[in-house]
Parts: sequence; C-alpha cells; structure tokens
Amino acid sequence: MSNMKHNAYAAILAGGSGTRMGSTDKPKQFLMLGDAPIIVHTIEKFCVFGGFDRVVVLCPAEWQNQMRDLLERYLPAHADQVDVAAGGSMRNDTVMNAIRYMQDNFDVDEDTVLVTHDAVRPFVSHRILQENIDAAREHGACDTVVPATDTIVESLDGATISAVPDRRTLYQGQTPQSFNLLKLKELIEGLSDEEAATLTDACKIFVLRDEPVALVAGDVGNMKITYPQDLRVATALMGD
Ligand code: CTP
Repeated sequence: MSNMKHNAYAAILAGGSGTRMGSTDKPKQFLMLGDAPIIVHTIEKFCVFGGFDRVVVLCPAEWQNQMRDLLERYLPAHADQVDVAAGGSMRNDTVMNAIRYMQDNFDVDEDTVLVTHDAVRPFVSHRILQENIDAAREHGACDTVVPATDTIVESLDGATISAVPDRRTLYQGQTPQSFNLLKLKELIEGLSDEEAATLTDACKIFVLRDEPVALVAGDVGNMKITYPQDLRVATALMGD
C-alpha cells in the first residue's frame, strides 16, 4: 500500500432541466423535498461522507447564483467543501465541464478519481460512495447497478418484440458512475462528433472502447426523481 495521497473529487450533475417532471418555474433538482431542495440533500450526503477532496455542483449557468445562495442558507458548515460551476447542454457535456473544472482548479494526476452523481438521487449511501471510489481506483471505471426486477423486452421497431434477454444478465444503471479522471477525459476527447451526439452515458464510452467497467451494488432506495410520482415516493422515504 503506497502512502501517496490519492485525490477523489465528486461532480454532482445538475445541468438538466427536468422536462419529464413538468415543473415550469425551476429545474426539478431545485424542487423541495421535505425541508430542503432535492439538490441540497444530495450535496449534504457527499459532504457528510467526508471522502472527497472537493464536491463540485454543475448546474445550468443561469442557476449558479441561486445554487450558491442555497449552499449558504442550508449548508453553511460545508461551504469550503463545495464549488459551483456551469453544466453543459448534454449530460456528457456536464461531465466534461466537471473534468475541466477539476483540472483548472485542483491537483489532478493519473490516480485521481472522479465520482459523478445525479443531483436527483438524494438517497445515495456512504457504502455506495466508498465502493465507487475503491472500484474506480482498482478498475479505472465503475457503474452502480441493481439487478433488473422487471423482465426487459427489446423492440427495435417499437411495435413488436425483437428479443427477450435473460433477466439474470440484466441490471438497471443508477449513479454514481466513477472513473479515473484522466482516462475518462481521454476517452471523451476521442469521441467522433456522431458518437458524442448519441452517447448519453459516460460508462458506455468505456464499453465502446473495450475498457472494463466494474459493477458496484446499488440499492433500490437510491432512486432517481424523474416524474412527479417519484417526488411523492421520495417525500415519503424522507419521513422514514
Ligand atoms: N444532467 C446534467 N446535464 C445535462 C442533462 C442532465 O447534469 N445536460 C443531469 C440532471 O440534472 C440530472 C441527471 O443528469 O441530475 C439525470 O438526468 P435526468 O434525470 O434525465 O434529468 P433531466 O435531463 O433534467 O430530466 P428530463 O430528461 O426529464 O428533462
């Protein structure tokens, strides 16, 4: 075991607008969940975990000041752990902005790990965060998954079934997705324009290039808030 310091940074991905939530005045990550906005719960989980050198929140450019106000109001004790930066137009653009931000502002070397997480998954656990850091260090990349519960059917034309893959080999992807930061940067920069336009998942970039992506066991509780119904479920879970 080397006693060199290995950096781990967290990127909270909050650059989306939440169209499926149907909220008109603000992106869904800013909606209230119990006593604080969804995104505040997520950031707090990362800060309290304590394993990150810095947590960077990437939100729509026009929401950055509002985000800083929320941090001051709800998480004053963690102010020196959290930075705010602008997200990008697609999810992977937001990831790329995170990489650039880390490189411009902090120490990054070949061992640096980047943990990326959906702002709208506030129930991530400390176990999942620690296993992401460990797996990204050991394997270069990892994805947090749960075994598929429903049978997944494939339909290439949207009208009839083309395949029913064996459920035992299928998982549902959650986040975090975590990476060796410089490896992720290299792979994203190597994408063609067409690949960049169609790839919405950072782990898929590794798979496409035949790079290993380890599995970390997720948790059904680590739900994503996508639809109004999810916010009702999350609100009930907060009360537990
Ligand atoms: N995200 C991001 N940058 C983007 C798009 C999405 O950081 N350009 C983030 C979202 O803010 C969210 C996470 O990625 O925290 C998961 O994406 P999703 O739930 O699909 O969020 P939205 O894109 O906001 O939702 P919708 O598809 O309903 O518009």
